[in-house]
Formats: sequence, structure tokens, C-alpha cells
Amino acid sequence: MEQPEVYHWWQRGIIYQIYPRSFMDSNGDGVGDLPGITAKLDYLRWLGVDALWLSPIFPSPMADFGYDISDYTDIDPMFGSMANFEALVEAAHARQLKVILDFVPNHTSDQHPWFLASRSSRHHPQRDWYLWQDPAANGGPPNNWRSVFGGSAWEWDEASGQYYYHAYLKEQPDLNWRNPEVQEAMLEVLRFWLDRGVDGFRIDALRQIIKDDQLRHNPPNPDYQPYQDPYHQEFPTYTTDRPEVMDMIARMRHLSEQYEERLLIGELYLPIERLVTYYGIEGKGVHLPFNFHLILTPWEARKIAALIDSYETALPPDGWPNWVLGNHDQPRLVSRVGERQARVAAMLLLTLRGTPTLYNGDEIGMHNVEIPPDKIHDPFEKNVPGKGLGRDPERTPMQWNQSQHAGFTNGHPWLPLANDYLTVNVAIEQDDPVSMLSLYRRLIDLRRTAMALMVGSYQAVEAEGNLLVYRRSYQDQQFLIALNLGSEPQPFLVETPGRGKVMLSTHLDRDGEVVEESFELRGDEGVIIRLQV
Ligand code: NOJ
Repeated sequence: MEQPEVYHWWQRGIIYQIYPRSFMDSNGDGVGDLPGITAKLDYLRWLGVDALWLSPIFPSPMADFGYDISDYTDIDPMFGSMANFEALVEAAHARQLKVILDFVPNHTSDQHPWFLASRSSRHHPQRDWYLWQDPAANGGPPNNWRSVFGGSAWEWDEASGQYYYHAYLKEQPDLNWRNPEVQEAMLEVLRFWLDRGVDGFRIDALRQIIKDDQLRHNPPNPDYQPYQDPYHQEFPTYTTDRPEVMDMIARMRHLSEQYEERLLIGELYLPIERLVTYYGIEGKGVHLPFNFHLILTPWEARKIAALIDSYETALPPDGWPNWVLGNHDQPRLVSRVGERQARVAAMLLLTLRGTPTLYNGDEIGMHNVEIPPDKIHDPFEKNVPGKGLGRDPERTPMQWNQSQHAGFTNGHPWLPLANDYLTVNVAIEQDDPVSMLSLYRRLIDLRRTAMALMVGSYQAVEAEGNLLVYRRSYQDQQFLIALNLGSEPQPFLVETPGRGKVMLSTHLDRDGEVVEESFELRGDEGVIIRLQV
């Protein structure tokens, strides 16, 4: 296939997710903030990422830690001021770092003036901005739709005598995206931030913004097991991934295209065949429908190989791939696959074809932190306890150095720190040539300087057992990537042309080794080989 010479920044680049509450606290209140992020931009530059995505920083009662927004066009004082935000964008841009904001279109806070107005009376002109319904014949909720965070998705409003719908918390009422006024108001939000120089948006809960207009019951899931999240008792057929969502996305895309080089990423937990439809027809969808399948697929070489194949095959011709290994909603990578395989996973993420997204802290190997019951914050854990669904463990403060609270705050951190922060932190790892951080930095550097790794084509290489092998090529540059997802040594044969040089091993001790026809990977080792073609 002809390879275009010019790529967008978001095709060449690496995205780094910042969870602002936990990144860096500049004022000692125990919660991270915007000046804290600004102070760490040089670190991100050093690491070599290209764009920062900030989880929500807008005014919010924090029922869902910022994903319940009460004003879309301001900054929560906890995070700083609009002036702090402008300073952050300016400082980021001065370092060639793009800034991506979280756009939460599915729901507002129940304290948002729109909802207060809508709730105030059945006859209020904004009543229809949210999803209000009469009770079912038996007086109960209108149908069987469930909240992702437990219980019915319908909340009874005594004063106005109707139910309202909330896909998440009852403090997060869903907007009615079928109402053109809502569409206009939300596009206005995008315009507001685009005019302030924001480079793109990660769009929250995108698969949920339209629900079935006939309110049909969701069908039961016959495979549901009681130990699972109760949300999965039904298939979310009528509450997610509805066809009309594409029209809403087309409007967002159209708006973003009135600005230069802006990026739309959709948060979409969907099977691959559905996920890829969000690229849209003729470029009317999002640029990057977030691909979470590396998080969701068991960490086994054959399964990961099949995943990559099915994704590569399903992508539309102009759809640019992307891969994600972690975020603020999922258990930490190290806790999912172990410390050694986390290094292999980093090599996979940064050598696959498509834009990688890193989650803050994964680059130093942070693991899930056990949260004592009295320190639990996440409403998901509070509503559906004991099933390991809580997200606090992956949201603990970033570990910067060996000082108190890992240099995150001078005050009392809002979530406990990991107890190994004395050894797992940025400062220590920056000085350690074989640390996880050094590995990430080397991987990023190699990817940035090698077109084949950054934008080249992908070819699977047949392999067995715990081995995962593929090539990346661009013009006459060719790399072979071989990953051992097991702990036993793995010999393998390098196909013709069969000669090359190790550019990087996950163990960081094999640079420059000459590769002949046969090669042996140690347990839990991945290597990037530059082939001599
Ligand atoms: C997805 C976000 O990533 C998550 O943190 C949040 O709770 C829900 N959407 C609701 O906004």
C-alpha cells in the first residue's frame, strides 16, 4: 500500500493521560492541580510524549471525581483558575506538547443549572434537556435499564412526579441528545475550548449518549454469573451503541474541522467489529475510537496475536489504529500482568501500529494500591462493594521522589500512597539505566526516531506458544519485534533476511547484539531487532 508522507501529529505522537487529582499538588491541599501539571511539563518532554489528556478539570461536586460537571466552561477551584489553565496550555505548547481535554457529553452533574431548571417543573422549557419518564403501570421505573454504577438507571423525582435516567450515578443525569438545543449547547462547549487553543477531546461515555426512543427493555444475558458486575445481567442493547449516535458525532467532527489539526477520541468499550464503525463513513466519526482490547484480552500470546490480527483486519482503509494499556478506570498494568510482563507490554504498546496512550504512573511501574475501607472514595466501590470494581487503587498519587508522600503533596494526599514509593518513583528511576522508566524512555525515543515504528506497516510473523512476533516496515527500514509472554526462554528462527541488530531488549542489556538466523529470548523478554535489508 502507498504510504502517505505526511501524518497528523496524533498519528505520529504518543498520548499521555494525566489524572489531575493525583498528578502533582502545588498548594498542599492533597489534591493535584493545574500549576502542579505545569511544573511537570519538562518531565513529560524528557519522557518524550506528544500530547497530554487531562481527565476533567471543570467545576464539579465531585460525586464521580469530576465526571459530574456543573459548569462546562470554567475550571474547578480545586484544580486552579482559568489563568492557570491558559498558562498550562501556553507552557505545553511552548514545549510542543498538545493538550487534550475530557469532554463529558452524556451527563451533567445534578447540580448543573440545566438540570436544576429541568427538574424544577414538568413545564419548564428545559424539561426536555434530560430524560424524564412517567412510572411504569406498576408505579416502578419505566423499564429494566440499569446504571453502570449499580441499581436502576431511573431515579424517582418526588417533586415533579417522574423518573429521570442516569447511566451512571443518580448525581449524573443523562442529557437528552435528541433535543437540538442540547446539541447546540454542547457544541458551544467544544467551541469554547477550541477557541482557547485546546488540541482535542477525549469524549466520555460516547457509546451511551443516545438511548432507544421506544425505551425497550434490555435483553437478559444468559451467561451472567453472580460473581460478576450486576450491570452485566442484561445486554445493554437499547442503552448503548445506538445507530443515531453517529449523527451526533458527525456534528462534533464537523465543528472540530473548522479548526486546524484537532483530535477527537471516543471512549468506547465495544467489541472490535462495533468499535471500528466509530471511524464513521467518509471521516465523519471520531479520529480515534479508543481501543481498550489490550486491557480486556487475557495476557496470552496467541490471544493477543489474534486480537491484533482481527483489529488490523477490521480497520476501515482510512482508519488510524490506536492502543491503550491503562487508564483511571482499569486495574494497573503491573497488577494485571506482573512487573516483568509489564515491560513486555510496554514494548508491545510502543511498537504496534497506531497511536499509543499511556496512563500516568504506568511508566514507572506503579501497581494497584490497596485502599483501607475507611479511605474508599470511588462511588462505584461504594455502590457495588466487594467485587473488586473500585477504581481508587489505580488512582493513587504519582510517585515523584523519595520525600514525604513521594513528592506529590506537602499536605495530606487524598488517596494513600503506594508503600513502595521509596524505590518506585521518577527520581530514582531516572538515574537507574535498567528501570521501567528508562525502558519507557528508550522505547519512546526509538519509536520517535524510526519511521517504521512510528507509522510503518504491520506484518504478523507466525509464532507459537508464548511468542508474539511481528514486523514493522517503512520504505527500506524494517524492524522485527519478538516478545516472550512466558517466563521460560524461547528460541526462535528469524526468517530471511535473518540478520540484524538488537536495538532494545526489555532487560536493557543487549544493545547492539548481532542477530543471526536463530535467536533466543530469555523469559519475560522482548526485543526490537533492526533487520538489515
Ligand atoms: C468513563 C470515565 O472514564 C469514568 O471515570 C466515569 O466514571 C464514567 N465514564 C462516567 O463519566
